[in-house]
Amino acid sequence: GVSWTLPDHPKLPKGKPVAVVVLDGWGEADADQYNCIHVAETPTMDLLKKGAPEKWKLVKAHGTAVGLPSDDDMGNSEVGHNALGAGRIFAQGAKLVDTALASGKIFEGEGFKYIKECFDQGTLHLIGLLSDGGVHSRLDQLQLLLNGASANGAKKIRVHILTDGRDVLDGTSVGFVETLENDLSQLRAKGIDACIASGGGRMYVTMDRYENDWDVVKRGWDAQVLGEAPHKFQNAVEAVKTLRAETKANDQYLPPFVIVDDSDKAVGPIVDGDAVVTFNFRADRMVMIAKALEYEDFDKFDRVRVPKIRYAGMLQYDGELKLPSHYLVSPPEIERTSVYELFRHETVKFGHVTFFWNGNRSGYFDETKEEYVEIPSDSGITFNVKPKMKALEIAEKARDAILSGKFDQVRVNLPNGDMVGHTGDIEATVVACKAADEAVKMILDAIEQVGGIYVVTADHGNAEDMVKRNKSGQPQLDKKGEIQILTSHTLQPVPVAIGGPGLHSGVRFRNDVQTPGLANVAATVMNLHGFEAPADYEPTLIEVVDN
Ligand code: 3PG
Ligand code: CO
Repeated sequence: GVSWTLPDHPKLPKGKPVAVVVLDGWGEADADQYNCIHVAETPTMDLLKKGAPEKWKLVKAHGTAVGLPSDDDMGNSEVGHNALGAGRIFAQGAKLVDTALASGKIFEGEGFKYIKECFDQGTLHLIGLLSDGGVHSRLDQLQLLLNGASANGAKKIRVHILTDGRDVLDGTSVGFVETLENDLSQLRAKGIDACIASGGGRMYVTMDRYENDWDVVKRGWDAQVLGEAPHKFQNAVEAVKTLRAETKANDQYLPPFVIVDDSDKAVGPIVDGDAVVTFNFRADRMVMIAKALEYEDFDKFDRVRVPKIRYAGMLQYDGELKLPSHYLVSPPEIERTSVYELFRHETVKFGHVTFFWNGNRSGYFDETKEEYVEIPSDSGITFNVKPKMKALEIAEKARDAILSGKFDQVRVNLPNGDMVGHTGDIEATVVACKAADEAVKMILDAIEQVGGIYVVTADHGNAEDMVKRNKSGQPQLDKKGEIQILTSHTLQPVPVAIGGPGLHSGVRFRNDVQTPGLANVAATVMNLHGFEAPADYEPTLIEVVDN
């Protein structure tokens, strides 16, 4: 269990229940028709905003404030919840991989040496998300990996691509595949047998998370390992273009395909003696495939054939499970996170307020003191079909937990703004925002009843801006003169609001914190529990004035 002893806060009492509510994908932006939070009826959040500047403020949720390489990087749930839970800013996967590639150290590490053993006889397979989104992976990192691997002896390389359209604009997958094809043809010119072997849309193939739907991983396994898929093409650009046109699927949901040779044979199934690297740095959507690739005992689906391979992750995805056991870059060591209580959430975001909050660690710190409740998500649908998702159920569980009096802290993630925002369906996202607002209301009402305190914040922006904009903030039109729907997250700041009957009357937000960000929230919450935060935490956002 957690055993550090925090000093008492000199002014704030202990024993007040604290609800920490994270609105996923809920940023602050100017009001217009593409700001779904503005368009939606959100009376609860509107009221909280009236508390500015003493009880409501904006904090940074993207870029360097959350450990990403630059301020051009949008926020995301992993780095956002890491910062919220850890109270400090750690260089995140994206940055650690950049550093390891830039110095070349990645090719000297244990993980690379391990897979390199296969280069003489076997094929190197690279599986991952193909885009420059920078949330799970980055194309330029894949390019450096391809070059480095071939310079270090890889003779045969197969890339298994997952198309994006979620962290980047829908339709951009064609361009990314063209770029990759061009890189691979340059490797071929150098005598390396390199090509794309399979593909599919990230939300339909491989990149499920928190065991929401193993079929997603199975579809990937069939294409990548077995070389079997409902669609066969000789060329990946043609595959993506044709499948987009014929199945009307967007990049996120493209069906699985394999690349075949002239005799209709898959060009790159994974077989005994091969090496496999999953090149995403972010963990949540790689854990399931890592289990399928690594575990001897596995019963989530019938793998049919289990090749004897050497497998490494770009990072180790789960520090608790030590999964995978081999990896190219060491993950951030996020120790002494702020958790020892409870939270509420839905499957698609289940691990965000647990796994990410706790520094990419699965499982409880102390099972006698914590209770994690997962509300199963709807599966097999895109969330614009049911934009309210399970917001009501989450709020009811949170309410019951608060009213039970059993917990010091109730932590909740409300996924609507993000999950529906990613579909690019503006009308549905408006419904989603309203549902999230109603859920906040139910939780705040429960806090009111028990005399507690609330902290309402968000992990990154999404629903507040659904259109791609030019530098001056106007919608940027495409060649046909049409707006381009933004399915991704944003660079916008997010709100933090505090209140509740248990909040000491002298508490207010300070205005002297330099560039406040999500990492400042952990110390704030500790104060509200009556403790001083550890000295190395980012400073608290609040002060207590005498009145
Ligand atoms: C996803 O994995 O769904 C997106 O790439 C990022 O969304 P999240 O950071 O909100 O989970
Ligand atoms: Co998101």
